[in-house]
Amino acid sequence: MAGRIPSPFIDAVLTRTDIVELIGTRVPLRKAGKDYKACCPFHEERTPSFTVSADKQFYHCFGCGVHGTAITFLMEYERLSFVEAVTELARRGGLEMPAEGAPVRPAGPDLRPVLAEASRYFQEALRHHAAAGRAHDYLKGRGVTGAIAKIFHLGYAPGAWDGLIGALSQYDAKTLERAGLVIAREQGGHYDRFRDRIMFPIEDLQGRVIGFGGRILDKGEPKYLNSPETALFHKGRELYGLPQAVKAIETERRAVVVEGYMDVIALAQHGIANAVATLGTATTREHLERLFRLAPEVVFCFDGDRAGRDAAWRALEQVLAVLRDGRQVTFLFLPEGEDPDTLVRHEGAEGFQRRLRRAIELPQFFFESLARQVDLTRDDGRARLFELAKPLLSKVAQGALHEIMMARLAELTGLATDRVRALTPAPAPPKPVRAPQAAFSPKGSPSLVRQAIALLLQAPALIGEIGELPTLERPGMDVLMAVAAVLRDAPGLSTAAVVERFGGSPHYQVLSRLAAWEYPALVADQALELRAIMGRLSEQAQREIAQKRYKDLIRKGNLSESEQEELARLAAHRRTDAADAS
Ligand code: UTP
Ligand code: MN
Repeated sequence: MAGRIPSPFIDAVLTRTDIVELIGTRVPLRKAGKDYKACCPFHEERTPSFTVSADKQFYHCFGCGVHGTAITFLMEYERLSFVEAVTELARRGGLEMPAEGAPVRPAGPDLRPVLAEASRYFQEALRHHAAAGRAHDYLKGRGVTGAIAKIFHLGYAPGAWDGLIGALSQYDAKTLERAGLVIAREQGGHYDRFRDRIMFPIEDLQGRVIGFGGRILDKGEPKYLNSPETALFHKGRELYGLPQAVKAIETERRAVVVEGYMDVIALAQHGIANAVATLGTATTREHLERLFRLAPEVVFCFDGDRAGRDAAWRALEQVLAVLRDGRQVTFLFLPEGEDPDTLVRHEGAEGFQRRLRRAIELPQFFFESLARQVDLTRDDGRARLFELAKPLLSKVAQGALHEIMMARLAELTGLATDRVRALTPAPAPPKPVRAPQAAFSPKGSPSLVRQAIALLLQAPALIGEIGELPTLERPGMDVLMAVAAVLRDAPGLSTAAVVERFGGSPHYQVLSRLAAWEYPALVADQALELRAIMGRLSEQAQREIAQKRYKDLIRKGNLSESEQEELARLAAHRRTDAADAS
């Protein structure tokens, strides 16, 4: 379908096109969550099922099943040919159609290498820079050991205006700017954003650097300077210390959420390794969903003062919508003037753990906070309590926890539990997401390979999660390999651009159907999901290799001693596999 237009040009055209704007000028779109909706322009309908995704640069109608990219939309809506549609989009984007075979620059650069390089530079400077003595003294003064500094990859940004720019001269300044490391001067040129600061690299779940926080050594403003939002770095999503904490969170089945970088580090140094910090922002649902993927319990640490209680309440409001049976949230309020850093240094890990055990569970904090706002000895006070609690409780999903909170509300207000229940309906548990039938086997859930493809299409940046693909004969494995190859070659592509890379290939149909499907994982969890899927595929591949070897050995007969041992081992594995499977 791509004809003779080179794919990098199509990438560039799609990068410059905003599908929401393109469709929005022709069809009235309404924002619905992160997507946009309208009544479908391609079939008759009264309720909108036509959805446009800005993230994917893709549209999809749940009613009639049409779907595609900006190019497909123009082709269908304006009845243009492929080349005409690309030409129109190129014109709008200020691009000239290339002469045949002309080279075109690919879309935005991958920022990860430059951030990794910057982190190495800061770490190196903490070890060897002439001015690093002060940084050392500062860290030492705060009780930070060299070992823990290494685990968290702490660094030092020297005081010069061009230290990093000079050290990373192999990158152009524009790339450093995109990565949030340098700032453009009005009169031209750039300067280092972080100067004379202790550097805390912020890393994603896989430990790849996505941003930085930098602390001033002396008193001054701002105390912490953070990376700006970039293509990779979104404060409302990331948690400081996550890659260091993930194992402990999983084994302890609990995550501790604190407010500061230094809190995470001090706790880890004292053996409380399951702590992470929000990045100077309020807790978001995305943070919570992320943590609940790893463990069933989240403990928030807040200051015991008024501001801390207000912050805890704001966190609680976010929590209610993600609460479900089996998920626990507790609040630990710290004594006046302490934060987890100072507290663990004063009281030791044992003291901190003792406080954790005494933390208040969410329902208790919820009702105590509300009860404090009303007079429960008065009828109108209890009515007021009911009114305050009602909208909040109706965010909690159906289940035992919801029931228990209702019963407690009934008890406090003196209303009959049945009345409370009738007046405060819980939302139904989240609906399973419908998969596009045609893309999958008729029997139901998509195969692992298809799930992997769908995730990659939905979030092409996840290509970094995939190492060597396992050798497995599975339907769609060739498509997965082809998609991975395209993304390795051009990591910045959008969903739409990946799909268009397969224009004219037999995979086009299945890929665009998979692209239209919303893989049911939150943005923050996609990396985890993909890791898990790839892990299972590798396991299957290994199992197949073992099975083949087992059969070969059986068939061979007349085995050497080491072969007999191997056979016994393989047989034992087969038994546990069979037990697992049943
Ligand atoms: P705190 O001031 O409580 O941090 O801010 P802290 O870790 O206890 O600081 P020190 O080093 O012990 O004095 C909590 C978090 O808020 C964000 C940072 O993420 C910090 O870790 N913050 C704070 C900023 O982004 N900018 C600031 O100026 C201050
Ligand atoms: Mn502190």
